[in-house]
Amino acid sequence: MELDLLTVCYLLGSITFIVGLKMLSNPATARKGNLIAAGGMTLAIFGTIFLYKDDSGLNLQNFSWIFGAIIIGSVIGVLAAKKIKMTAMPEMVSMFNGMGGACAALISIVEFDHLSKNSLTDNQGTLMIIMLGCIIGTISFAGSMIAWGKLNGSIKDFSFKGQHFFNITLSLIILSLATYLALYETSISTIIFYCIFILAVLYGVFFVLPIGGADMPVVISLLNSFTGVAAACGGFLYDNKVMLTGGILVGAAGTLLTILMCKAMNRSLLNVLIGSFGGNVKNSNGEQTQSGQYKEISLSDAAVIMSYANKVIIVPGYGLAVAQAQHTCHELEKILTEKGVDVKYAIHPVAGRMPGHMNVLLAEADVSYDKLKEMEEANEEFSSTDVVLILGANDVVNPAAKTDTASPIYGMPILDVELAKNVIVNKRSMKPGYAGIENDLFYSKKTSMLFGDAKKVLQNLIAEIKSL
Ligand code: TAP
Repeated sequence: MELDLLTVCYLLGSITFIVGLKMLSNPATARKGNLIAAGGMTLAIFGTIFLYKDDSGLNLQNFSWIFGAIIIGSVIGVLAAKKIKMTAMPEMVSMFNGMGGACAALISIVEFDHLSKNSLTDNQGTLMIIMLGCIIGTISFAGSMIAWGKLNGSIKDFSFKGQHFFNITLSLIILSLATYLALYETSISTIIFYCIFILAVLYGVFFVLPIGGADMPVVISLLNSFTGVAAACGGFLYDNKVMLTGGILVGAAGTLLTILMCKAMNRSLLNVLIGSFGGNVKNSNGEQTQSGQYKEISLSDAAVIMSYANKVIIVPGYGLAVAQAQHTCHELEKILTEKGVDVKYAIHPVAGRMPGHMNVLLAEADVSYDKLKEMEEANEEFSSTDVVLILGANDVVNPAAKTDTASPIYGMPILDVELAKNVIVNKRSMKPGYAGIENDLFYSKKTSMLFGDAKKVLQNLIAEIKSL
């Protein structure tokens, strides 16, 4: 009877994961989806703690350890989530993902210890799942920690000649040792298992170290899918359906997200993993460049042209997130709307530094969802737009993606802002964005630069518009 109730808890947990994930795909339902999935996870955890019985009919014990760990983990999780800045979100995701990988690896280590007390080769299937969970979980843990260090600036990009050959050799050694361990039981089986664990740590470190720091969001998404697969191995091991469903969902979602991010940047996963993206300002020939003739616009001129426009489209980018100017931006939208201007936002799929970054940022400022236009929709509207106001965006509006075959971003779909009558670009300097390349849009006849920190500029712009 009790086991049946536990099965019901697991079934409900699995359903909430699927429903929650579906709801996460829309900004209007994302928060609720997150809560629903978290509720399902809580049900599955407490169901396991109070209802699970082992083969001899015993419940779980060590409640003080279990609840001690739950309390410590919950306090750290809540504090971290409350304190974290939106721009540091990929960093936190990386750290939490690493913890998931570490959990999966620890499960494998504990279960290997149990299994080695019996016969390893008599339980080959279980042994292989243990090794898979250990290898993938460990790589995810070590890689995520390096990604976390790179994002917070404590670890610099590092590579040496022949690193890719070194990584391939390391992975072949890990696979060979795992195959040997699965086929032959010897007196050094335990030593081989721990060698595999140590080599997987090294692989995780050397896999992520050479990847360009700016490509970390894609790597984190990939490692996230690894953690999902490692957790699914735990589900197989314990015949735990909810762990299996959760792991498979994370694995599949992480893989899809990785593919979508690469597609939106028009880069292959291989290019992300072995190419070092970003860095110096380069033109299409790969030479250092600087300059061109650009013109500036004064705050009062910008205020006039926007106030008397029929339609204004705001293009938010990474700089808006850095400046934390989302609330001020919403205020500008409201003031212009009051003046009868039709104001919308054009959202590029990889604007910012994480998937849905701009949607989350603007949702935080209560911008209405129907004002947000996806790239394809926005591109149809630019030709009938009087003013495009670009706030801290650069690569996602760079025409080189369409015109310059030698550009590293060539082929990336961009926002066609140059179709509008006027383009105003707000950033602090002429420095490049993420891809480290010049942007000819800034030198176009239609474009005027409005230099300064996005928040300050928006505050001053609002004051000017009010005084008109
Ligand atoms: P970027 O090309 O990175 O440009 C951001 C611009 O914001 C910079 O040129 C910077 O110029 C400006 N800026 C910085 N701080 C500012 C501030 N306080 N006030 C005003 N401006 C400020 O950003 P984007 O156009 O959003 O493009 C995103 C890039 O990230 C793409 O190349 C994309 O491929 C990449 N990427 C995105 C993701 C996801 S999933 N979103 C994942 C991986 C990579 P100044 O320094 O002159 O101010």
